[in-house]
Amino acid sequence: MKTETGQSKSFIKMRIAWLLPVCLALATLFFLTGASEYTSQTDFCQSCHEMNKVVSTWQNSIHGANESGIVAECKDCHIPRNLGNKLVVKAGKLKELYVHSVVRPTNFEFRRMTPELADRARSKIDDQNCLACHDLKRQVPNSETQQIAHSTSVGTAACVSCHQWVGHAPREIKKEGEIR
Ligand code: HEC
Ligand code: HEC
Ligand code: HEC
Ligand code: HEC
Repeated sequence: MKTETGQSKSFIKMRIAWLLPVCLALATLFFLTGASEYTSQTDFCQSCHEMNKVVSTWQNSIHGANESGIVAECKDCHIPRNLGNKLVVKAGKLKELYVHSVVRPTNFEFRRMTPELADRARSKIDDQNCLACHDLKRQVPNSETQQIAHSTSVGTAACVSCHQWVGHAPREIKKEGEIR
């Protein structure tokens, strides 16, 4: 019995020893071949996300089109800038690939999942992504509400905890009274 577990343990160790360089090699390839760049492009996201309306609601939002001509692409909000978090989010895309190609939810099922997906999406959005474009220190507040909200909450509450719907306006799941 003892030797058996000993053997299976060293077998597992051997497999882990194998896996590590293989994963490293794959990760290096992912970055060197530009696959990381490619999988951050809006076109790539669009190839799957036509069905749940996120593309059209983004195009109609202030971030998809506005007078300044600066467009926030999908990755500008959804892919963290910090390398560690970026890898975690990218790895999560493997699950998206699995759900898309194996589970194959219907449009109806997707709509049912939307509130949950919206919450999950928010929990992964990093303030640094918003701050890369919005320098709040230099922005002149256009209302007292904004001035109070920003001076008391920024840094403690996530941007998207108040600006819940900035990426995809207007959505049916938005409740009355909520801000963009
Ligand atoms: C292979 C198809 C596919 C591609 C390509 C794809 N997605 Fe997804 N995505 C999905 C599916 C399917 C789900 C639902 C996953 C689930 O049910 O857990 C999802 C969920 C999401 C969510 C909500 C859930 C969460 O965990 O955040 C966000 C945000 C998202 N995708 C953004 C993106 C962005 C941004 C891109 C491009 C960089 C992208 N997706 C590319 C299929 C895809
Ligand atoms: C300005 C930031 C921003 C941009 C740009 C943006 N999003 Fe989002 N996204 C959000 C926020 C905030 C949420 C959560 C609230 C909601 O669902 O609208 C979200 C939610 C989502 C969800 C989950 C909810 C659902 O309906 O499935 C998906 C998928 C998604 N985004 C994909 C995309 C794709 C694809 C693009 C580019 C075409 C994009 N987003 C562009 C901020 C953004
Ligand atoms: C690529 C740059 C970019 C990124 C990233 C970005 N924004 Fe914006 N945002 C803009 C531009 C440009 C406008 C339009 C400004 C204008 O027309 O005055 C805007 C407008 C807004 C507005 C005003 C909305 C309205 O209805 O008037 C809010 C609020 C906002 N952004 C919050 C956010 C939050 C929160 C995030 C992070 C999830 C974010 N933005 C990410 C560029 C960006
Ligand atoms: C406690 C809630 C709260 C938080 C957290 C918050 N905001 Fe706001 N923000 C507001 C309110 C309220 C307004 C004013 C909305 C209005 O007048 O419709 C506003 C307005 C804005 C505007 C629009 C200014 C304009 O020209 O209309 C931008 C851009 C913005 N916030 C960006 C951000 C960013 C980026 C973060 C995160 C670093 C953030 N906010 C965090 C509540 C918040």
